[in-house]
Amino acid sequence: MAGVSVQAFRRQGRRFGAGLVCSEMVSCAGIEHRNERTLGYLRVAADEHPLAIQIFGSEPAVMADAARLVVAAGADIVDINFGCPVRKVTKTGAGATLLEDGDRAVRIVEAVAGAVEVPVSVKMRRGLENGSRRALELGPQLVAAGAQTLTLHPRSAKQMYTGEADHSLTAELVSLVDVPVIASGDITSRAKAQAVLATTGAAAVMVGRAAQGNPWALKEILEGDGEQPTREEVVAELVLFMRETVRELGERRASGFLKKFYGWYLGRGRFPRAFKNELVVMHDLGEVEERLFAAAPGARFVLARIEQEQPVVDEVLLDDMPISIYGGG
Ligand SMILES: Cc1cc2nc3c(=O)[nH]c(=O)nc-3n(C[C@H](O)[C@H](O)[C@H](O)COP(=O)(O)O)c2cc1C
Repeated sequence: MAGVSVQAFRRQGRRFGAGLVCSEMVSCAGIEHRNERTLGYLRVAADEHPLAIQIFGSEPAVMADAARLVVAAGADIVDINFGCPVRKVTKTGAGATLLEDGDRAVRIVEAVAGAVEVPVSVKMRRGLENGSRRALELGPQLVAAGAQTLTLHPRSAKQMYTGEADHSLTAELVSLVDVPVIASGDITSRAKAQAVLATTGAAAVMVGRAAQGNPWALKEILEGDGEQPTREEVVAELVLFMRETVRELGERRASGFLKKFYGWYLGRGRFPRAFKNELVVMHDLGEVEERLFAAAPGARFVLARIEQEQPVVDEVLLDDMPISIYGGG
């Protein structure tokens, strides 16, 4: 998820049981131009694997080069974005637009699958317009072109995130292709995951928004362990997330980036709303940490335990690129 799936989010997901995590979407043009911020998305820690790195773009050859580079950076799977509905992306002919540009979409998948040894997967929406069934036509063609997995988020691009994901389309897609299909959209609980798996025949479910500030949702989905985290656990996870994000993005970018996470962690009835409001206006992350610990002093011990259990991350350096997980920037 763009603006969400930073390394800290992915590592946390793995710790809470996710079988596979995915990067934010990464621009193949940004990779082509060795844009520093884009390359920053390619910092991979040892304990993230298996990891999919998602790329987006509209030029097959540029996508193929980008795929080679993300594999060099450590991707175990290259995922291609044919789902992004955001205008900044679609106006360049990338993301969901490719659902309606089938020839180009096929050429992109062929080029990427021909460029790398690792599996190539594609993430799609159902189509551009409401009610569209376009993904069902295109899906089999993408498999023939070399896609080894398809993920379907069965909303239209127009819908953005409104309405509901219509997983009857996921079931149809499963019946049309002989590769694993992953169901994405509104998987928020074990009951929902089980229902979608049972009614679609999908090989797996993908969890997005439900895990934002709430890795405990992954445990519940996997194990049925619906126990709510204590305040100490919530604060410990948030502080760890903050520290890792600072290391990844640098203090200045992290402090803006993190604001939306305060609500995600502290909401859900865990803390009074006024507490979150207090944190979002603080400029200094050290101050935010102190305030969090003051609200749940035992969190220091929980955090120490998590840090002890978590392996130290390796630094990843590519031959000719300034990529390091300690890079900041
Ligand atoms: C903030 C945000 C960013 C997203 N970014 C991406 C992205 O970069 N690539 C992608 O394939 N899907 C992206 N998605 C879509 C999700 O992967 C997922 O398909 C969608 O949110 C539905 O699943 P959910 O109900 O579990 O969130 C994003 C969704 C959100 C909310």
